[in-house]
Amino acid sequence: MPQRDHRENLTESVERGKMLWEVNNCVGCHSLIGEGAYFAPELGNVYVRRGGEAGFKAFFSGWMKAQPLNIPGRRQMPNFHLTDQEIDDLAEFLKFTAQMDVNDWPPNDEG
Ligand code: HEC
Repeated sequence: MPQRDHRENLTESVERGKMLWEVNNCVGCHSLIGEGAYFAPELGNVYVRRGGEAGFKAFFSGWMKAQPLNIPGRRQMPNFHLTDQEIDDLAEFLKFTAQMDVNDWPPNDEG
């Protein structure tokens, strides 16, 4: 049985990512494992939904750099002007959250 809190995966990069998650108020628009705002998609499983081990970091880095998409009529996400290291730390944090044992929440990959 893995530990429920996955402490063995709690690296310094994950901790920095958590800090970036807080100071940039990602939770002001997103929910994470059900906690937060409902303006933007749940991100507790975005790691799984967008490529996992093989593809998530590339997706995430591209996504963060492409904002705002400026698609008319679509909700916008700001650009946070993060460094590559910061983007990697946030990706590690989202990977960590995807691997926590949260009783299969959210109920499907689309959150
Ligand atoms: C002002 C609101 C807002 C804030 C703050 C915000 N986002 Fe978003 N985010 C959005 C919206 C809206 C979308 C969906 C956009 C779309 O589908 O075109 C989104 C989408 C995403 C996606 C893609 C989700 C998917 O299912 O593909 C990721 C990853 C993401 N945000 C990460 C973050 C992170 C990390 C932060 C904090 C650094 C953050 N967001 C802060 C509004 C926000």
